[in-house]
Amino acid sequence: MKVPEQIKRLAVVLFVILAAVLLTRYLIPASVVDPRVYRASSAQREVSKEIKFAGATTCSDCHDDINTKKKVGFHKGLSCETCHGPSVKHAEDPSSGKPFAPRERKFCPQCHEYNPSRPTGFPQIIPTIHNPLKPCITCHNPHDPVPPQVPRECSACHAQIERTKALSRHALLECTTCHSTPTRHKQLPRSVKPTKPESREFCAKCHDTGASRKDAPKVDAATHGSRFLCWECHYPHMPGEA
Ligand code: HEC
Ligand code: HEC
Ligand code: HEC
Ligand code: HEC
Ligand code: HEC
Ligand code: HEC
Ligand code: HEC
Ligand code: HEC
Repeated sequence: MKVPEQIKRLAVVLFVILAAVLLTRYLIPASVVDPRVYRASSAQREVSKEIKFAGATTCSDCHDDINTKKKVGFHKGLSCETCHGPSVKHAEDPSSGKPFAPRERKFCPQCHEYNPSRPTGFPQIIPTIHNPLKPCITCHNPHDPVPPQVPRECSACHAQIERTKALSRHALLECTTCHSTPTRHKQLPRSVKPTKPESREFCAKCHDTGASRKDAPKVDAATHGSRFLCWECHYPHMPGEA
């Protein structure tokens, strides 16, 4: 008797289905198919991993002084190991080695480099102009990062102007030649402001043809630029670019 073609095809299909059922039943491990076994075995796997972090509270058992400082400062929300890395070995046995301390400058900008997607008001700086070349921890204690003292240099806050001036022909003039600055301006900048030049005579005292200062190029202040203020044409922090 001849088996009809369609029966043969059906047999092939049935065979494939049967094979698939047997495969899933006996060859795929139960931990993949059965949710209960799956959960138990992944819990086991995670638990057997080596513990690396000591947790947010362990460190203060021995470093209470630092924790006391940190918990009232700006970094109160950061755990010690966010900066020092996983330190459980050290916490269990301090003689086994010291945790890493991120002293280099490139560390802090990971959180503080200006990035428009960060929330407004989050303290951000532009590392290339915020006191470049010095490690952050020379001025900020990482456990209490307020600026520790009144900054000596104007560039701590006016870095862009400082950098512009440094490349200009006025590079050698101190900021205070043109702005007399009360010390309190550096503590409460918005409450006390430095002076700014007010008249053409101010610039003319170095630049007028009759002025005694030798190294400054001369113009006839009586006529040059007519009645306009000098800084309507010359940016005082980069005077070459008229
Ligand atoms: C059981 C006490 C103990 C615990 C807990 C402990 N430390 Fe220490 N830690 C010490 C001692 C002691 C030293 C000083 C080691 C030395 O100077 O040789 C030290 C030193 C350090 C240093 C100095 C490294 C350096 O370069 O000078 C850091 C950073 C530090 N610990 C971080 C941590 C952190 C983070 C934790 C929590 C995960 C922690 N410690 C938990 C006892 C402890
Ligand atoms: C924002 C990052 C940051 C956090 C958070 C932080 N540290 Fe530090 N820690 C540093 C840096 C950077 C230094 C190196 C300071 C230096 O050399 O002047 C340091 C130094 C230390 C030192 C050794 C020098 C010292 O000042 O005695 C210890 C101990 C220490 N940290 C423990 C801790 C503990 C404990 C915590 C949590 C309560 C913590 N740190 C949180 C960044 C951090
Ligand atoms: C894991 C992210 C993180 C790291 C790393 C970090 N900071 Fe901060 N920093 C913060 C947070 C969060 C605040 C608090 C922001 C707030 O109060 O809104 C803060 C606040 C500050 C402030 C604010 C002071 C003010 O006047 O507003 C300074 C300065 C500062 N950090 C310096 C540092 C320095 C220096 C380092 C490196 C040693 C550092 N930070 C590393 C997250 C970080
Ligand atoms: C030469 C000292 C000095 C160095 C080095 C320095 N800072 Fe500052 N930083 C200051 C002073 C001063 C202020 C306060 C300026 C102000 O209030 O506007 C400040 C303010 C900040 C602020 C707060 C800005 C805000 O908008 O409130 C952050 C964040 C900060 N610094 C992070 C850093 C980081 C990160 C580094 C290293 C890459 C660093 N600083 C290096 C002196 C320094
Ligand atoms: C602690 C940060 C800080 C330091 C340090 C600082 N300034 Fe300022 N300065 C400011 C801020 C903030 C303003 C903006 C005030 C405003 O517009 O309300 C300002 C404004 C000024 C102005 C403009 C005043 C005006 O009327 O528009 C001048 C000029 C000035 N600063 C010069 C200086 C000089 C020169 C130094 C150094 C001797 C200096 N500043 C140091 C923060 C600072
Ligand atoms: C040659 C004189 C001169 C020197 C040097 C000088 N300034 Fe000025 N500065 C001016 C004049 C003039 C203005 C007013 C410009 C205006 O009103 O358009 C001014 C304006 C400012 C302002 C107000 C904002 C702005 O950009 O117009 C700040 C802030 C400032 N100066 C900071 C500084 C700092 C910081 C330094 C040193 C790095 C410095 N200046 C050096 C002459 C000077
Ligand atoms: C109306 C615009 C304007 C005003 C206002 C103005 N200047 Fe100029 N100044 C110029 C221009 C444009 C040049 C470039 C001329 C040139 O390169 O030949 C110049 C050139 C100069 C030079 C360079 C001369 C040299 O030999 O290199 C000095 C110095 C100068 N000005 C100082 C001043 C002083 C000081 C004041 C205020 C008393 C002032 N300027 C006001 C437009 C002005
Ligand atoms: C304390 C003296 C002094 C004062 C005040 C001063 N300058 Fe100058 N200025 C100089 C000197 C010095 C140079 C040239 C430096 C060099 O090239 O070696 C100069 C250069 C210049 C130049 C020439 C730029 C060029 O490329 O030719 C201009 C423009 C200028 N100053 C404008 C001003 C203006 C505007 C003011 C007032 C806001 C001012 N200066 C105040 C000393 C001064």
